[in-house]
Amino acid sequence: MTLKVGVIGVGMIGQDHIRRLTEVLSNVQVVAVSDIDNERAQSAAPNGAKVFDTPSELIRSELVDAVIICSWGPAHEEQLLECIAAKKPVFCEKPLVTTEAAALRVMEAEVSFGQRLVQVGFMRRFDADYRRLKAVIEGNSLGAPLMYRSVHRNPSVPEGLYISDMLLNDTLVHDADISRWLLDDEITDVEVRVPRQSSHNKNLRDPVLVLLHMSSGALVNVEISVNINYGYDIRGEMSCEKGVASLPNRPATVISDVHGIRQAIPEDWRERFIEAYDQEFREWIVAASQGGATGPSIWDGYAATLTGDAALRAVDSGSIEKISMCEKPKIYN
Ligand SMILES: NC(=O)c1ccc[n+]([C@@H]2O[C@H](COP(=O)([O-])OP(=O)(O)OC[C@H]3O[C@@H](n4cnc5c(N)ncnc54)[C@H](O)[C@@H]3O)[C@@H](O)[C@H]2O)c1
Repeated sequence: MTLKVGVIGVGMIGQDHIRRLTEVLSNVQVVAVSDIDNERAQSAAPNGAKVFDTPSELIRSELVDAVIICSWGPAHEEQLLECIAAKKPVFCEKPLVTTEAAALRVMEAEVSFGQRLVQVGFMRRFDADYRRLKAVIEGNSLGAPLMYRSVHRNPSVPEGLYISDMLLNDTLVHDADISRWLLDDEITDVEVRVPRQSSHNKNLRDPVLVLLHMSSGALVNVEISVNINYGYDIRGEMSCEKGVASLPNRPATVISDVHGIRQAIPEDWRERFIEAYDQEFREWIVAASQGGATGPSIWDGYAATLTGDAALRAVDSGSIEKISMCEKPKIYN
């Protein structure tokens, strides 16, 4: 069976997902697109796909079995609610939504529907290196995990479009989610420390150091730098009772020559996580074809939203900020 999908928002990641859905993956066809920039939608639409003037028309169309949301974060809530009302499986890029109240509204809609329809785009969970790291932790050969170090470095971000708060309410969501997933634990408290500012973009609070307190007592230390200049550098290291497990640097090939011994560095997230995104969609296509979702859920998007909110409060207060989650609905167990 071929899953017929509609893509809402065809900017950078929307176009990259259309490429993988049309050129790499099977059992799926992009039959519809929509973007508030209609010209962009026209040029991004693959052959034979229909361009809808509004996301609502795309979501309600009988042509579309399942929806992929790649619009801006503030637009996600309305589009998610419409997908759930239409009973259509939906893949939503991170962030799930941008406020706690919005997260609770989409959660309530899905819980009322009675089963999962929504998958959130936390692609690190589908990355082979992260999966191996999780398998080592779960295998328990190193004992209990005590501390995790997550490094998230971007070469640069678009000046003007990317503002200081986004380090904490947009970029941090990946580190928060992968930490919860690796440790199988919830975040209870958040601290933020802001070091001396990078001179690359003086309008940004960059870098930041975030400390996530987990309910088990484990601690997660996150470095976010969004103007590191040299490349897209993602690292992870879990310190356990009897040893340490780390992600390998990617790409893994080591070059030795007259300049020394070195590894290349990815330019951006598309290159570093290309296989993770492919795998994320492979598994979503199977789940959505059966009318559901797999992997990161609305509950996970809600947890990441609360972490971002607490981190922003922690910058203002300079103190440890608590996270208080609602009771977990059964459909997320
Ligand atoms: N998982 C990841 O690693 C990852 C990486 C990059 C971006 N993202 C997320 O994907 C989303 C899109 O990011 P991007 O980098 O492609 O941004 P972008 O600005 O390149 O593209 C966003 C597109 O959405 C369209 N759009 C905005 N609001 C809309 C609405 N209400 N209805 C229809 N179209 C609308 C815009 O016109 C634009 O074409 C964001 O939520 C971002 O955080 C996730």
